[in-house]
Amino acid sequence: MDCLRDWPEPVVRVQSLSDSGATTIPDRYVKPQSERASVDPGDMVGIPVVDLAMLTDDVANCEATVTAIADACRQWGFFQAVNHGVSPGLMRGAREVWRGFFHLPMDEKQRYANSPKTYEGYGSRLGIERGAILDWGDYFFLHFLPLCLMDHDKWPALPPALRETSDEYGAALTKLCRRLLRALSIGLGLDAACLPVAFDDEGVCMRVNFYPRCPQPELTLGLSAHSDPGGMTVLLVDDHVTGLQVRKNDSWITVQPVPDAFIVNVGDQIQVLSNAAYKSVEHRVMVNAAAERLSMAFFYNPKSDVPIGPIRELVTCDRPALYRPMTFDEYRLFIRKKGPRGKSQVDSLVAA
Ligand code: OGA
Ligand code: NI
Repeated sequence: MDCLRDWPEPVVRVQSLSDSGATTIPDRYVKPQSERASVDPGDMVGIPVVDLAMLTDDVANCEATVTAIADACRQWGFFQAVNHGVSPGLMRGAREVWRGFFHLPMDEKQRYANSPKTYEGYGSRLGIERGAILDWGDYFFLHFLPLCLMDHDKWPALPPALRETSDEYGAALTKLCRRLLRALSIGLGLDAACLPVAFDDEGVCMRVNFYPRCPQPELTLGLSAHSDPGGMTVLLVDDHVTGLQVRKNDSWITVQPVPDAFIVNVGDQIQVLSNAAYKSVEHRVMVNAAAERLSMAFFYNPKSDVPIGPIRELVTCDRPALYRPMTFDEYRLFIRKKGPRGKSQVDSLVAA
């Protein structure tokens, strides 16, 4: 893909802008008024919290939990998972090694500078449009599966525990996602293996986001409104700095993270497979003047070269197929070229 060979403009690390001590942000980060975030003091509702303690591998026998997950995915597209089985020590350790990475000297991080072709490595923008307004965040993107894409040499060598901790974290979250995917299948009235079969094989990757302190947080966003293009996302957020907002009808709800919980959300591929029973919901990230924020978005995706369309059992006379099939490889080119654009991409799949 030639047009994805390189960034259209020199890359500027947001962390360098933040560290420069400037009291204003460059114009390139100033969002139009309509996109800027605000906190609605009246918003007291939160996304649902679901206890996964009873969700065993035998998901067919966990009806109450399956119902709670499915309701959350139908109504919100988001929930916080507690008692998910991943050790809090591993979660803390993963956050610590990645925070350590972003605090290394710039030269060390630049060794992993990424390109728009694969996105693997240290990056500071999403999308390759010249002159685009950018988000106030840096990130590191890496692959776990398929194994042919997993390359430890592309992961940071420092801090020393990063590779081993990330491996362990990736294995634990993959296991959790497998359980959740089976539960989502049953929640659709299907066999537990139905969504896993439609995924064919797993694509697993992670985007660790680092949002440096921002002198004018009200003018910009850490990550613009988007829905996640893949299957399902399991997000580990900062333990003391909030920032994630989720769209509910016409308002934005600020997520108040429950300690040691994961935030789980449906991505576009599961919206498509479920023929819109489950919703891939828009979300965005606010930044802040007082504190930096770190989050780890773990993406559990279908095999990238099989066409993904609504599952046959879910297509009926009353509810015809809403989307035309497309491979995930083709699908994700959109966000890789254009950057975050709300839900415009999944809407563009709507069958004529
Ligand atoms: C993402 C994302 C949210 C956050 O990386 O796709 O939505 O809180 N991150 O950083
Ligand atoms: Ni996201």
